[in-house]
Amino acid sequence: MNQVYYWNRVCPTKFGTGASETIGDDAKAMGFSRVMLCTEQALMDFGIATKVQERLKDAGLEVFVYAACVPDAPSEVCDAGAAFARENNVDGIVAVGGGSTMDTAKAVGIILSMGGTTIADYYHIPEPEHKIRLIAIPTTSGTGSENSPGAVIRDAETGRKEIPVYKANLALVDPVLTYTVPASVTAATGLDVLAHAAEAITNRNFNAYGNIFAKEAIRLTMKYLKTACEKPDDVEAREKMAFASNLAGLAMAECGCSIGHTFSQTFAAMNHIPHGLGCAWALPSCMTYTARYGTREDLAETADAFGITVSDADDAEAIAKKIADILVAFMKELKVVSIKEKGYTLEDCLKATELFQYDAAYANAPGTPLSDDEIRAYIRETYEMYQ
Ligand SMILES: [Fe+2]
Repeated sequence: MNQVYYWNRVCPTKFGTGASETIGDDAKAMGFSRVMLCTEQALMDFGIATKVQERLKDAGLEVFVYAACVPDAPSEVCDAGAAFARENNVDGIVAVGGGSTMDTAKAVGIILSMGGTTIADYYHIPEPEHKIRLIAIPTTSGTGSENSPGAVIRDAETGRKEIPVYKANLALVDPVLTYTVPASVTAATGLDVLAHAAEAITNRNFNAYGNIFAKEAIRLTMKYLKTACEKPDDVEAREKMAFASNLAGLAMAECGCSIGHTFSQTFAAMNHIPHGLGCAWALPSCMTYTARYGTREDLAETADAFGITVSDADDAEAIAKKIADILVAFMKELKVVSIKEKGYTLEDCLKATELFQYDAAYANAPGTPLSDDEIRAYIRETYEMYQ
């Protein structure tokens, strides 16, 4: 490997059981006095966001709750969040939720920092200087959004995923907040961890730093995800999955993703399918895709993380098949539904073909740009590989 790359990632992170308990002091130390609590209604109802709200209030801060965040971070929800922040003259943002909630908060940060009214004006600008700072508190182990610079937004007009840039200024990663996440969501978000890690290794921007985080994220996920699904309050499994998610977020921030994420960010997003589930479906075929367009070396690194023995006689195709077989078996063990079981046909999936070129991960995938026939072949393989 002969690469020159810049390493300066991403935001300071406080990690561990109980890490979110100091939110009041942390927000105060960052100069917050009027806080926008950006979250989801369900997390208010379950008492998770309300706990954070209480801690902020106990520290003497005023809190303004914006609980309108929903999956896929629609641009109109981001715009409304910025208007809400402005109306209430907030001076800091605390995001409590999954990836879409943290992404919504990032978008609010961009709009306020730029002085505008809609995130649609800022999809392709460099990260603005932060006029308002953001503390991210993830409540799922999957997206790693607290550690990735991009905010994945669904544009209301085009339906496309756009990825403007705004890093959180501090992340509090507290596994306790994931104890109430149901098994199906734990599985899907955990498989998103695997996708971030395996796609980081196998895309064009792979580098040695990303490799360290990605391989450990894969190892931890394969060891602990099943337990986290089956025993929701298993302290060790939840801690290890929260750590794996954070590591994979770093790998993704450093290297990006590949065509598996393109499938999720087009087909799954079009159909409001959870992001992690879309990534899980697309990952085994992403490995065999890499055998066609990427390198044997990257697949061998990925296989090593999965604990797969690779011999000199194994070509890229053979290695990819071994990884894909393990992934499919693992998804079966976790009782992940297939695309077909979810009610979609191959024809439905193929409708995403023309959207691939607009997705941010697509350009990172080896072999791109692809012809429509090549994209269709990948989508077909995705549909057929996990039944
Ligand atoms: Fe993802």
